[in-house]
Amino acid sequence: MRLDRFLSESTELTRSLAKKAMHRGEVSVDGEVIKNPATQVDETRRVTWNGQPLALVGLRYVMLHKPGGVECTARRTLYPRAIDLIELPMLERLQTVGRLDVDTTGLVLLTDDGQWSHRVTSPKRRCGKVYRVTLADPLEDSALDDAIARFAEGLLLDGEEKPTRPAELAMREPTVAELTLFEGKYHQVKRMFAAIGHHVVALHRESIGPLSLGELAEGEWRELSEEEVAAF
Ligand code: URA
Repeated sequence: MRLDRFLSESTELTRSLAKKAMHRGEVSVDGEVIKNPATQVDETRRVTWNGQPLALVGLRYVMLHKPGGVECTARRTLYPRAIDLIELPMLERLQTVGRLDVDTTGLVLLTDDGQWSHRVTSPKRRCGKVYRVTLADPLEDSALDDAIARFAEGLLLDGEEKPTRPAELAMREPTVAELTLFEGKYHQVKRMFAAIGHHVVALHRESIGPLSLGELAEGEWRELSEEEVAAF
């Protein structure tokens, strides 16, 4: 790999800032100052920037049990960001795989692998996301069959041109539903229940495809295993 790319993949420097740092004589390979950005290096070489040894970070895959009051965004806002709960180097590279609303709790995946993220979120892959939905009022048995059918057929939500993809609804308690979606539109769960006259008071994502939170407590995170990454 070229030395400027090695720097940009192991530090916050962009390729052009990496070249400038090299030009200033700040970068060494095996103790020798190198100014040519095209110099080939690999992980067996000791690359330093201002004397600090660098290592390639590689691609990371993380699951987080998101608490309420945390935002799935890269920019800084009033709320803490999901990435602020993770302790890994070069956090700004991690992006959430889809989003949960600030008041929604549950499973969020984060990665710096854009292709993997696309595989998880692409509706074509039919990767089911299971939500536990708490409603303000009970969904009566008399209305349940109609709700199941409407969600299974797809609803045209306000402002959308295409109906929602078929979704699976089941009731766990009169005010607690389990909804499985195979896509991710903005505020989709809340808007789908609003379309059948119900208000969502709490929303929690339990699983994405084969991954669920397991024992992970609210606010905790862990890296995925190779098998879990490969499952998508
Ligand atoms: N649907 C919503 O309405 N909110 C979420 O956070 C996720 C899905």
